[in-house]
Amino acid sequence: MYFKLSEEHEMIRKMVRSFANKEVAPTAAQRDEEERFDRVIFEKMAELGLTGIPWPEEYGGIGSDYLAYCIAVEELSKVCASTGVTLSAHTSLAGWPVYKFGTEEQKQKYLRPMAEGSKMGAYGLTESGSGSDAGGMKTTAVLDGDAYILNGSKIFITNGGEADIYVVFALTDPTSKHKGTSAFIVESDFPGFSVGKKEKKLGIRSSPTTEIIFEDCRVPKENLLGQEGEGFKIAMMTLDGGRNGIAAQAVGIAQGALDAAVEYSKERVQFGKPISAQQGVGFKLADMATSIEAARLLTYQAAWLESEGLPYGKESAMSKLFAGDTAMKVTTEAVQVFGGYGYTKDYPVERYMRDAKITQIYEGTQEIQRLVISRMLTK
Ligand code: CAA
Repeated sequence: MYFKLSEEHEMIRKMVRSFANKEVAPTAAQRDEEERFDRVIFEKMAELGLTGIPWPEEYGGIGSDYLAYCIAVEELSKVCASTGVTLSAHTSLAGWPVYKFGTEEQKQKYLRPMAEGSKMGAYGLTESGSGSDAGGMKTTAVLDGDAYILNGSKIFITNGGEADIYVVFALTDPTSKHKGTSAFIVESDFPGFSVGKKEKKLGIRSSPTTEIIFEDCRVPKENLLGQEGEGFKIAMMTLDGGRNGIAAQAVGIAQGALDAAVEYSKERVQFGKPISAQQGVGFKLADMATSIEAARLLTYQAAWLESEGLPYGKESAMSKLFAGDTAMKVTTEAVQVFGGYGYTKDYPVERYMRDAKITQIYEGTQEIQRLVISRMLTK
């Protein structure tokens, strides 16, 4: 066992932390208030190579690994969870399936611009009638000559409307649930593709979440990702890694809230001494820090396993489960440390608390993580 990060990982952390403090943090509260996505931040991340951290240089990436990517998501989420999930969905939900299942042509055409950050990626699985039961989708893809014709719609799409490339799942054989699902790469300017309702949300308000609609959308045959009928497996394998990105986001949110609470507790004086010196608050901070450390270790472990080419699906579900619950608990406690001030928008902890909630819901609810973990334990 060796718990020290490599020099490369430390360097990436330092670089992302400095970028996050300088370029992301100053506008985080305002973007949240205005529900405004800032493409310039994404472009600046691209300049630093953050949009292609785990992908080899031959595909436009910086040739690092999944641990470095998780560290980047964590550092961004420490100041702005919306920016954290932008990078997470772009990398692990759109880039990953193209990297793993794409042909050489698909990788050059789609992974490269995503890795370089000239194009942004998104992932379309969820539908209005199929959330946790992802296999219950209704969107269809019918082969017509040299193209598949897609019809249907997907909801809750992170990066929706901003993304240029969407990895989308549709039924090529509606009579067969899992084995009838296929994956496609859809460009935002394909005829028949449109962006629908933009959600108004409790948290991660500067990350756009939209519906995407397919009306006789013509997707060239060569944009089938993997084989026909392989789509459900691709969707599930993509989420295996994606969930760890969300765990990293949750760790970042929790750490951001703890840092704010520690600072405040040292300044706030009640009963003649800083509240940090009052046991009720001091013990709270200790519990918060301990949970975060455990969540971080689970997250880094899952990322390390993936980077090493070892199985990581169970560990990734565990990290998302534990880190998501930790983020919710820690941010709620941070508001408590701030008392009445914490409930106002004068301090960032109410935003952290609103942002934390989604980490218990997306990329599989906490209940689905338990299902995944228990199935792996007993299979
Ligand atoms: N890797 C590879 N194959 C897998 C797999 C995995 N992780 N999980 C399942 N499969 C395969 C199974 O082996 C099985 O294959 P065979 O038929 O060949 O045996 C097939 O897929 C069907 O598996 P299940 O019977 O387990 O499928 P199920 O219908 O019971 O569903 C589930 C399983 C885990 C509940 C799944 O539906 C699921 O993960 N649901 C949650 C969906 C989810 O996470 N959505 C998030 C949306 S994206 C998002 O949130 C992004 C965002 O905004 C940032």
